[in-house]
Amino acid sequence: MSRLSTRHLLGIKDISREDIEMIFETADNFKKIINRPIKKVPSLRDITIANVFFENSTRTKLSFELAEKRLSADVVNFSSSGSSVKKGETLLDTVHNILAMKVDMVVMRHSSPGAPHFLSNHIKANVINAGDGTHEHPTQALLDSFSIREKLGDVAGKKVVIVGDILHSRVALSNIFALQKLGAKVKLCGPATLMPKYITSLGVTVESDIQKALQWCDVANILRIQMERQQIKYFPSLREYSLYFGVNKPMLEKLDKEIVIMHPGPINRGVEITSDVADSGHSIILNQVENGVAVRMAVLYLLAGAE
Ligand code: CP
Repeated sequence: MSRLSTRHLLGIKDISREDIEMIFETADNFKKIINRPIKKVPSLRDITIANVFFENSTRTKLSFELAEKRLSADVVNFSSSGSSVKKGETLLDTVHNILAMKVDMVVMRHSSPGAPHFLSNHIKANVINAGDGTHEHPTQALLDSFSIREKLGDVAGKKVVIVGDILHSRVALSNIFALQKLGAKVKLCGPATLMPKYITSLGVTVESDIQKALQWCDVANILRIQMERQQIKYFPSLREYSLYFGVNKPMLEKLDKEIVIMHPGPINRGVEITSDVADSGHSIILNQVENGVAVRMAVLYLLAGAE
């Protein structure tokens, strides 16, 4: 069995281009399998996986659960709402209690950056980061690059603009690492107040004019404004944000080429993207969701074989 260079998936920063390519090649095979009438394989029979979600999720949680079940793993789900976390139990105690029930792998989403890293230092099970605060969302970036590769044949040499709330986005950071490791050029576009000061040190460029950014790119990955992480006002109103950074159909019609539109979800229709763009032939948003299952199957399968 092929092995990744790591036994946890905590962030894209920590893994190599070879790891990413191994995940993609494995995901290619799983994608074929989940499109067959019999979608299940016995690869993770006798492996028990806990999905431990301390923050809301629709796509990531369902996608991991489906990936685990299609690999024949035993799955337990934990959400902090309705749990003993509300009675004051710590993260570590919560996870030790779950592990005492003989769990082999933990998929964790948490609002605190570094929470999965902390966990991986204290438990024997493999840990997969399903999004830690504003830090990283590695499987989202993997499925995003996998979807670009599927649509355009390769990620290397492609120009990708990430639009929106970069400051609060774990999707942006993981995408920057993944795209650059795979040889793409990355530009960021959004309000100056939502652009981290350090960001150009990562080798990306910044453009404040959305029309110019769209003209430059092959792919636009459009992000949601994360109101739930904003303690202060970074722009006057959502209407104003939409006016300057929202992507709509007339903007795409002005371009002298076709570009690919992506969004990690959840979408705020009419804010960062209009429905006629999100639902258009340019959009691969639902392909991203479909690919998420195959990519997560690959990550789980390869980590289960790690030392
Ligand atoms: N893209 C993503 O992480 O979506 P969820 O928050 O619904 O999991």
